[in-house]
Amino acid sequence: MARFVVIGQTATASADFSLEDLAGSSGRLDVLLRCVRAALLYSHGVRRDVTVYLVLLAGPDAPRTLRFDGASAKYVRPDERPLATLAKKALGAERPVGARGFVERRHGIAVADGGLDAVVADLGPGRAFLLDESGDDIRGIADADLAGDPVFFIGDHLGVSASMRDRVLALGGRSIAVGPESLHSDDVVTLVTNELDRRRPRGAPAAGL
Ligand SMILES: C[S@@+](CC[C@H](N)C(=O)[O-])C[C@H]1O[C@@H](n2cnc3c(N)ncnc32)[C@H](O)[C@@H]1O
Repeated sequence: MARFVVIGQTATASADFSLEDLAGSSGRLDVLLRCVRAALLYSHGVRRDVTVYLVLLAGPDAPRTLRFDGASAKYVRPDERPLATLAKKALGAERPVGARGFVERRHGIAVADGGLDAVVADLGPGRAFLLDESGDDIRGIADADLAGDPVFFIGDHLGVSASMRDRVLALGGRSIAVGPESLHSDDVVTLVTNELDRRRPRGAPAAGL
């Protein structure tokens, strides 16, 4: 199972953004939601073996994290607005008193109080990779190292802060690049996903639909 963690330095952790002006009112949550589409959706369904975490680091309710779980996700569509609507409803739902960790608010969509700490507590084992333009070329990474349950940390439109970078590397994360240019976050997710697809043994279907 592949996990993607997108770190939103300016993304709001509350539901008080406008669907009419998502980019302008949400601290660029749109950037993160495009990563959800890239990671979870085929042209014909949902990748059931992928989980995406959106770490929301801005606003009075921050930090909080949204988790989209392909195994149980329903109603996840490729368009940004329905995805934003799901995120808004999940973030706006009242948290049960005494709840710990991730609480499912919609089919396959859960919210936790906390940022990277909440993600790390939820992840379990798996090799960590920090997506970074100056990292080692992903094409030089051995199949065995990308197999299993890898977790990929990706920055938003501002990149990854130095402190967040240090924390990911302290998890044993290896810094890897998908190419020589600085790309949009969702394009990076697509390229990583494609690399994993291409390395899957011939005839082994991806978990989907
Ligand atoms: C739009 S880029 C960030 C650009 C930002 N101006 C900076 O200097 O960091 C968003 C994120 O995508 C990832 N990324 C972009 N290009 C990449 C590449 N060629 N290889 C690996 N990761 C990349 C990084 O995680 C980056 O933080």
